[in-house]
Amino acid sequence: MTTKIINLPRILDKRGNLSFFEYPNLLPFEIKRTYWIYDVPGGEVRGSHAFKDQQEFIVALSGSFDVVIHDGKDEKRFSLNRSYDGLYIPKMIWRKLENFSTNSLALIVSDKSYYEGDYIRDFEEFKKLANE
Ligand code: TYD
Repeated sequence: MTTKIINLPRILDKRGNLSFFEYPNLLPFEIKRTYWIYDVPGGEVRGSHAFKDQQEFIVALSGSFDVVIHDGKDEKRFSLNRSYDGLYIPKMIWRKLENFSTNSLALIVSDKSYYEGDYIRDFEEFKKLANE
């Protein structure tokens, strides 16, 4: 499966709206870990790495930011600004998060526990591995 936006259900209600995702009908992997990025100072960039084996799903729960992905050949930018859209990113995709709006909140779920050995932090090394 390639990097793609997954539209999430919206349960519209006068009392306030509700969205969700779950495996297997919306999310293509079982969640092992959840983390979130917040209080990002203006102009900062997060990410700038790829994972050898890990898949992720990113939702802008609040505010907006861009996810710039690179598959080793082409770059693509996804602007996330709705709490009912998420970006699925398979393994071996370089990604960085930038253009965070004030008070934005990035929710990220992953199918793996945190393991530094799964990170590729050098873009040239990533391109080499991705194009093998
Ligand atoms: P990192 O993934 O490099 O941040 P970014 O969101 O910019 O890609 O993680 C930053 C630090 O946080 C790193 O030193 C390890 C720690 N960390 C954990 O301990 N557990 C986690 O689940 C994550 C995502 C990071």
